[in-house]
Amino acid sequence: MKIVVHIDDADQWQAAIKKALPHATVLTSEAPAEERAHADYLAVWKAPAHLLQEQTQLKGIINLGAGVDYLLNTPGLPSNVPIMKLRDAGMGELIADYTLYGVLHFYRSMDRYAQHQRDAQWQPHPVPEKSQWPVGVLGLGAIGRLVATRLSQAGFPALGWSRSPKEISGVRCLHGESGLNELLSQVQCVVALLPDTAETQQILDAKRLAALPQGASVINPGRGSLIDEQALLEALGQDGQPGHLRGALLDVFCEEPLPASHPLWQHPRVTITPHMAGPTPLNDAIDQVISYLRAFEAGETLETVNPDAGY
Ligand code: GLV
Repeated sequence: MKIVVHIDDADQWQAAIKKALPHATVLTSEAPAEERAHADYLAVWKAPAHLLQEQTQLKGIINLGAGVDYLLNTPGLPSNVPIMKLRDAGMGELIADYTLYGVLHFYRSMDRYAQHQRDAQWQPHPVPEKSQWPVGVLGLGAIGRLVATRLSQAGFPALGWSRSPKEISGVRCLHGESGLNELLSQVQCVVALLPDTAETQQILDAKRLAALPQGASVINPGRGSLIDEQALLEALGQDGQPGHLRGALLDVFCEEPLPASHPLWQHPRVTITPHMAGPTPLNDAIDQVISYLRAFEAGETLETVNPDAGY
């Protein structure tokens, strides 16, 4: 079995896969083209197009991340090769922590205290009842469902929204257009964790941001394309004018790295992190990659990515 790996720190992944599968040939994409040729599997994150195009006998592609948007948009992606993606693989807990941090930031008025400190202003804010502070999670895949569960366990009424109906203990699950409107009209904070597909692009547009209650906040550890960034800036209020929304914690952007001239950097009520909410934990991910490779080799039926759905 020949596996070619492409990701930052590919050497570490190569060594870990080799350790688990000592009889396999495991190469990184840095190997000479003739050695890389005729691979059985690619295990890749943001691979260059040529790496996909040059292969002739692939049995499977493993996406070394949760989102398959980059892979599915790579020119020359073979259409008949099954694709697996990491499902949670330790990213869920990391993103749940990130989200909980963001929710508590707004819930406990840390955004306001940061401003007060700049003004040397001593002004406590009342703490609302948690039961009166619902949080909504858009996207209930492996990561979204864990995030919604953690929020519920932390005492926040948790609402979740997905394309198709879902059931999650402790989470009020909604679906469809009317479900989305219902969620948005009720939550103090909305968390975007949908995959980037034709249907989800700019799902949080001006109209939907306006549907959030006055003073609600937005957390985006998912994909930048989910939010109309210009509409978000307008909803947050510009040039010192207060807006409909209170603040945003953003980890992902339409263009990454976020260009230095982008107005989001300067907005006083926006907190920016550099796509770090859910770095892939190597050990958990390797276990999943190995189980996929074994299942592929054993001819087992796998829950592969549906390229038409985009996830
Ligand atoms: C990271 O963004 C991922 O999709 O895993």
